[in-house]
Amino acid sequence: MGFIQRASRQLAQLFCKERLVMSSSQKPDLDWESRWKDGRTGWHRDEVNDRLVQYHGRLLEGANAEKKLNVFVPLCGKTVDMLWLNEQGHHISGVDLVRQALDDFVSENKLTSTVSSVKNGDGEEVTLIKAGENDCFSLFPSDLFKVDCTALGQVDAAWDRGSYVALSPEIRPRYAENMAAVIKPGGRVLMEVYDYVQSEHAGPPFSTPNDEITSAFGKNFTIEIMQTEDALEYIKLRFPITTRFDRSMVLLVRKAN
Ligand SMILES: C[S@@+](CC[C@H](N)C(=O)[O-])C[C@H]1O[C@@H](n2cnc3c(N)ncnc32)[C@H](O)[C@@H]1O
Repeated sequence: MGFIQRASRQLAQLFCKERLVMSSSQKPDLDWESRWKDGRTGWHRDEVNDRLVQYHGRLLEGANAEKKLNVFVPLCGKTVDMLWLNEQGHHISGVDLVRQALDDFVSENKLTSTVSSVKNGDGEEVTLIKAGENDCFSLFPSDLFKVDCTALGQVDAAWDRGSYVALSPEIRPRYAENMAAVIKPGGRVLMEVYDYVQSEHAGPPFSTPNDEITSAFGKNFTIEIMQTEDALEYIKLRFPITTRFDRSMVLLVRKAN
């Protein structure tokens, strides 16, 4: 199967699958604990993100066999993208509010794990699940904003799929500030974002058009929109979005302070 067919199949699977477990609603469904408990996790994919595979060379630029990166996956859920990034030779730091997401990641992938805690920069204890061979995964069941660079260590790169777009508009500027605080100068962030008419769907995912990305991240990052594709046919299967639905891949590079 060619690349285009594979990408189309992945999109179709994603959107069809979620429709089976979610119903459209007038209010954003941000009760993440309940969503995990009830299995309303239709965003989860069993296959590695096709655009991560396509663009990982830009995200992980400068890495080589001797230089292992610390790759941050905020709002990670139980994404298999973490496994794939680890297979490329990198340490993975994932954060998710819901403990079940991380426990599922560990058990479904048959990883060994130990639970401890670390202090963040405010002296607060944050739970840390070290998992996999040589503790190659550091998983934090926590609110994103409590896991700072004291807890994470130096972050070289970040993969954001379903993270920024999962947050309500009033929290998103804080997410952008937080990303700038944890990632090292020259560090890269690869993001998947969506642009649609927000009034057609309550979210998440929320619409985060390019001008919003520029105003949220432009102060601390250079921004490159690497690709935009029309995914309206697929999103229509899942949500009552009818006007347009553009899926973009964005590369952010942290400016020097
Ligand atoms: C749409 S899912 C995306 C998960 C994952 N990135 C993926 O692609 O499969 C959003 C995730 O963010 C988590 N989450 C929401 N708010 C959070 C917060 N403030 N801090 C940490 N995790 C959060 C939820 O529990 C949920 O697992």
